Amino acid sequence: MKESKTSLGMPVIDPDDIGHNQSTSQSLTELVAVRMSRRRLLGFGLASGGMALLGACGGSDGGGEPGGGDGGPDDPDPTPQVRLGFEAVPRHLDDLVAIPAGYTATVLFRLGDPMAAGVPAYLNDGTDDPATYDRRAGDHHDGMSFFGMGADGKWSPTAADRGLLVMNHEAITPVFLHPTGQSTEGSGVDQVRTDADEVLREFYIHGVSVIEVARTDGKWTYRQDSGFNRRVHTLTEMEFAGPAAGTDYLKTKYSPDGTRTRGTLNNCANGVTPWGTYLTCEENWAGYFRRVASTDDSQRSARELASFRRYGVSGNGRELWATMSPDTADDLYGRWNTEVRGASMTDDYRNGAFTYGWVVEIDPFRPDSTPRKRTALGRFGHEGACLGPVVAGQPLVWYMGDDARNEYLFKFVSAANWDPADATGGLAAGDKYMDDGTLYVARFDDSGTGEWIELRYGVNGIDASNADYPFADQADVVINPRLAADVVGATRMDRPEWTSINPKNGDVYLTLTNTNASSRPIDATDAANPRFYNDPKGAAQTAQRGNPNGHIVRLAEAGRNGAALGFEWDVYLFGARSSAPADVNLSELSDDNDFSSPDGLWFSEATPGLLWLETDDGAYTDVTNCMLLAALPGEVGDGSRRTITNVDGDTVRMQETIVGKAPGAEGLRRFLVGPKGCEITGIAESGDGRALFVNIQHPGEDTDEEDIGDPSKYQSHWPDGGNARPRSATLVITRDDGGLVGL
Ligand code: FEO
Ligand code: CA
Ligand code: CA
Ligand code: CA
Repeated sequence: MKESKTSLGMPVIDPDDIGHNQSTSQSLTELVAVRMSRRRLLGFGLASGGMALLGACGGSDGGGEPGGGDGGPDDPDPTPQVRLGFEAVPRHLDDLVAIPAGYTATVLFRLGDPMAAGVPAYLNDGTDDPATYDRRAGDHHDGMSFFGMGADGKWSPTAADRGLLVMNHEAITPVFLHPTGQSTEGSGVDQVRTDADEVLREFYIHGVSVIEVARTDGKWTYRQDSGFNRRVHTLTEMEFAGPAAGTDYLKTKYSPDGTRTRGTLNNCANGVTPWGTYLTCEENWAGYFRRVASTDDSQRSARELASFRRYGVSGNGRELWATMSPDTADDLYGRWNTEVRGASMTDDYRNGAFTYGWVVEIDPFRPDSTPRKRTALGRFGHEGACLGPVVAGQPLVWYMGDDARNEYLFKFVSAANWDPADATGGLAAGDKYMDDGTLYVARFDDSGTGEWIELRYGVNGIDASNADYPFADQADVVINPRLAADVVGATRMDRPEWTSINPKNGDVYLTLTNTNASSRPIDATDAANPRFYNDPKGAAQTAQRGNPNGHIVRLAEAGRNGAALGFEWDVYLFGARSSAPADVNLSELSDDNDFSSPDGLWFSEATPGLLWLETDDGAYTDVTNCMLLAALPGEVGDGSRRTITNVDGDTVRMQETIVGKAPGAEGLRRFLVGPKGCEITGIAESGDGRALFVNIQHPGEDTDEEDIGDPSKYQSHWPDGGNARPRSATLVITRDDGGLVGL
């Protein structure tokens, strides 16, 4: 949503906002009146099923007390009613973090902070030595998990005072990274980067951080000299695993046998495994590659061109890395050029774009291990990968949003059934459960039911007979699941972001951050993406017409079985201004809990049923900065079916949908509002639920490069204050009485 000027001198739209789905699947222009069954598909008994819920994408298995009562440290009752126990934080537009009375927020880990012995403190004026950035905190902190660590240095889910905090660094705010922004020459397709130090900084500052954190005398700090600290970045060697590994699609000059690549990029949300490893998810990777059509189209096959169109691989390349010259012997810059330049696919990087867009597994407890890109989970704009309920003897399931307008919700179901003996298996367990399985895509029907459709070569029309894109094999399907999902009629959604599982009942939640009128016109709504309206801030702006405030869909798998092929769904919450009309503010939000553009979404494990909700907004930003809310949701089907009136100028259309029970003050409350220009994203808790880690991403990102010499014009100075350049940072939030956060 945010439109700003980059150091490259051009106004850019958030790449998240670019849609590439031209397919017509589920473009519902007519209403289908169908009876909604209020009955759950099957009863769900956690206790009776012998189900051990690990769930929750962001964190490892919490071992804290269930329930919480008043949440005080001495609360003896294991099953009291959970209630939100803080006063709502008002909306604000100030350059600060606001939290409820009785809580303390501390800055733990900022952009540039040193992560190894001997690395000096960050000067934060653009002059820090580029060679040190592989041992400094990255930029744009995003998805994050806490892995408790025992005295033996191994994963211990119940450890509460010491652990590894693993987090993504999605992207950069270039204006603040270098002395005066990015140095370039030329314009248009001829614009080039000119400073190798700046480019090296940027290579290092994307990716993932692993840091050791500990609570001593009630205070959380990270250990600068821990042997576990690690940066994974765009130069880190990675292995491919799963159906696409070793195929022609992934062959490059760097890896002629298609088994390896360098780096990970645009790491957005995250996930975990039941064996204590971290999943980092590559989201808007496509834009980083250079592929100027005028030089490249004629040398590409029709299938390649269809794939590039569907994934948005075209243009100069965000950050212009491919333009730095002269290149190095190992193609430091040329690897970002995905044009045909050599004699064959092993002489250039024409396949470079196929080596990104994956879920990547990292073992944080083995700093020397090589991360693995798990190709069975498909290649798309991965937001996150949320682990479903873990049940011995049943398959493992990960839910995954593809974050672009009109993209899909996917899930991966392992072929192997879970054996708890693999809980110490590390990356070898990943080989067992994540390299062989089935990828599905969701279709949400207006009836309130839905179906998971298998994406497998030779099934459901995914084969060589498909006219738009003749599929060649299963590797082709996992490399192009968007194209496969188009074939089977999956439902195009309003930008799928995070998923999370309610450990109390297994409901799967999915944030749909927002969409606009050009991506979903008023005659293209459906029951699961039902709204079209004009947001008052931008009546004249295209971006504010459509569904600018977003919503949250949830689904209940048939039989509460993650491998099920059917589900029931409803809309848990609609983002809106509290002042909006009833057909827009469908969840009856108040001044204490209204929000816009939900993105991060994460169920606590220490307090089952407690949901945290984070926003990445550009619509309600005339009234408030982005925020974190706490919620206690009910369940799929707790509301009612309803017909809403959508309006676009003179056009009026009725749309049926299924609205979850309005949350009220007891069910949803604003907990934190961040500084100017930020997004709130990434969330994790210590094993006992008494420390909440929250990331503040890109404060001040709307600062113009031309103002870098005048700190008074910076949009934000958070967190250091004064005249400082702003920095993305991790917060630790604790309750002053030591109790469970949020209760
Ligand atoms: Fe990187 Fe979908 O937010
Ligand atoms: Ca996100
Ligand atoms: Ca987002
Ligand atoms: Ca972001």
